[in-house]
Amino acid sequence: MIFTVAIDGPAAAGKGTISKAVAAYFGYAHLDTGLLYRAVGAKVLAGADPMHAAQTLDPTDLENDALRTPEVAHAASQVAVNAEIRSALVDFQRSFAVRTGGAVLDGRDIGTVICPEAQAKLFVTASPECRADRRFKELQAKGMDVSAAQVLADVIDRDKRDSERATAPLRVAPDAQVIDTSDLTIEQAVAAAIAFVQSRLPH
Ligand code: DC
Repeated sequence: MIFTVAIDGPAAAGKGTISKAVAAYFGYAHLDTGLLYRAVGAKVLAGADPMHAAQTLDPTDLENDALRTPEVAHAASQVAVNAEIRSALVDFQRSFAVRTGGAVLDGRDIGTVICPEAQAKLFVTASPECRADRRFKELQAKGMDVSAAQVLADVIDRDKRDSERATAPLRVAPDAQVIDTSDLTIEQAVAAAIAFVQSRLPH
């Protein structure tokens, strides 16, 4: 069975948590496509040529905790502006989307560009303040030395770059279900996502 769930939205809206929970609930494979851009960004920070890094990306490059730092997120957002880098990462994502047994992909352009045919599309969002507050607590819990004001500035800066870029900007697909998680608990957001995906399954 081929069934693709596309989950898009801005940074720190809860996409990752929702995607993992949806994938686990339905027994589908999950790909966090942000990790592809982060892995390329990390290689660029280490001195690699961006295009070469994208073309030679290996699935094992994605299994690296160092990809979660704000520096790598910033580098990822910068390489993600480049149309050639984006197209070098398309095939990997599309093959993943049509694997047998179902797939959940989360990112910025999954429902609009990578998988416009996805059977279920969700757009997960929340206010910038709410997202910055969550990200700040996450980074603090990891012992990182960051300020709340800096995290909010980073969120706003990344939103701007992700939604204003010429290629595959962050947009709500016309057929996507929007979930605003600002005033929802994780359980409520996950339940809403699962109910929507369920409603899109063939009867
Ligand atoms: O979701 P994330 O924070 O891990 O994403 C890191 C950056 O990668 C983000 O700023 C934009 C980019 N990205 C993208 O352009 N398209 C995707 N499908 C996923 C991420």
